[in-house]
Parts: sequence; structure tokens; C-alpha cells
Amino acid sequence: MTVWAVLVAAGRGERLGLDQPKAFAKLGEDPLLAEPLRRLDDSAWVDSIVVVAPAGWEEPSILLAEELGCGKVRACVAGGAERADSVRNGLAEVPDDAVAVLVHDAARPLVTDDVVERVLAPLSEGWDGVVPGLQVADTLKRVGGDGAVAETVAREGLWAVQTPQAFPPDVLRRALASHPGGTDCAASVEAAGGRVKVVAGDPKLLKVTTREDLARIASWL
Ligand code: CTP
Ligand code: MG
Repeated sequence: MTVWAVLVAAGRGERLGLDQPKAFAKLGEDPLLAEPLRRLDDSAWVDSIVVVAPAGWEEPSILLAEELGCGKVRACVAGGAERADSVRNGLAEVPDDAVAVLVHDAARPLVTDDVVERVLAPLSEGWDGVVPGLQVADTLKRVGGDGAVAETVAREGLWAVQTPQAFPPDVLRRALASHPGGTDCAASVEAAGGRVKVVAGDPKLLKVTTREDLARIASWL
């Protein structure tokens, strides 16, 4: 009865715009990947980890895990063209008897044991997925290419969703096979007819997209 984490780190990081992939951008002294890897390895809830590295960066990813002493890393595989492809490659390493899989973006380095516990706990109640989210606080407007407001969108019931996202492994496998198109794993599970629950996320689970995000997260460490 093991919990597996699939840490997806295979994106190019185009919006960050560095020479190396985002996972190897420096956050303090170490590559960005080091922070979420260490945190998942330290987690009381996580038994085994699969790292999904950018193609050609498997070797430095394995070396990093060894340097950090991350003993739960069972595999390191190359990612694919889209995030869903990377998740699928990682999921292929998760055994059928795993009780849950957590999919986490390496670009959200500040994952905590509290949020991991919050997404894992409801799985035993029969949910097909559990995701952390933050209720949207700002007013939302749909804006056209010319900067003109097309409409103000009702904010009620809108949540911004983060990772780690928890699923029964077979549910996620089937959803990614039949509905690979979503921008997160939960979208595939929803499209496949699954019931997904949202629990409290964490503002510090900010995703590194730009250099400003990297600086902000460094200042929180
Ligand atoms: N990811 C991945 N494989 C892909 C695309 C994304 O493993 N083909 C991962 C990223 O490494 C990241 C997470 O999915 O941890 C969220 O993606 P995003 O923030 O969009 O990262 P990038 O795709 O790397 O950035 P950009 O879109 O700016 O190129
Ligand atoms: Mg991307």
C-alpha cells in the first residue's frame, strides 16, 4: 500500500527564458528541482518518487537526487512534448498496487506535508481526484486582443487550482489515455467523468513562470 509521487520537471521553461530548462534554473544555490525533490523525499506520506526530467537531462537529475540523498527516487524518465505526455511517462513507472499517485509540478517548489495530507485524505472517501485550490479574490474580466473588456466574469465558485494533485493510479491512467487534452491532470479525470474534490491550497505553492516568481520564492525560503 504505497503512495507514489510523480514529479514533472520536463518543461522547457520558455517564459522563464534561460539557457537551461526551468527545473535547472538556480533557486538560491541549487537547481529549482532540488527543492520539491527534497520536500517530497522528506514527506511522511510519500513512499516512492518518479522524476520526469527534460529529455537529455535524466543524468543530471539522477545525480542531483543522489547528491541530496533522496532515497525514495525509484526512477527518472524523460518527459514528452506536452505536460500530459510527461505525466503519462512518469505514471508508467508506478506499479499497479500503488494506493495513490500524487502528481506535482517541479515548478511549484514549496510543497508541504500539510497540503500533501489534505489531498491524500479524501481519496479514501471514493473521490476520483483531489486537488488544492485557492478561491479567486480578484474581479475577473475577459479581455480581447486590443485590451478592451469583453465581459466581467462572475467570480462566485471560481478557484485557482495548484498541485500536488492526488488520484487512484488506475483512474488517472485511464483518464490520460481517453482525455489527454487538459491543462492539469484533474481536467482529464473530469472529462472522463470522474468526481474531483478541491481542498485548501497554499499561496506559497506559487508556480515559477517568470524570473519575478523565482525571486519571490527565493525570498520566501
Ligand atoms: N512540464 C513537463 N513536461 C512538459 C511541459 C511541462 O513535465 N512537456 C512540467 C513543467 O516542468 C512544470 C509543470 O509541468 O513543472 C508546469 O508547466 P509550466 O509551468 O508550463 O512549465 P514549462 O512548460 O517548463 O514553462 P513554459 O510553459 O514557460 O515553457
Ligand atoms: Mg508550459
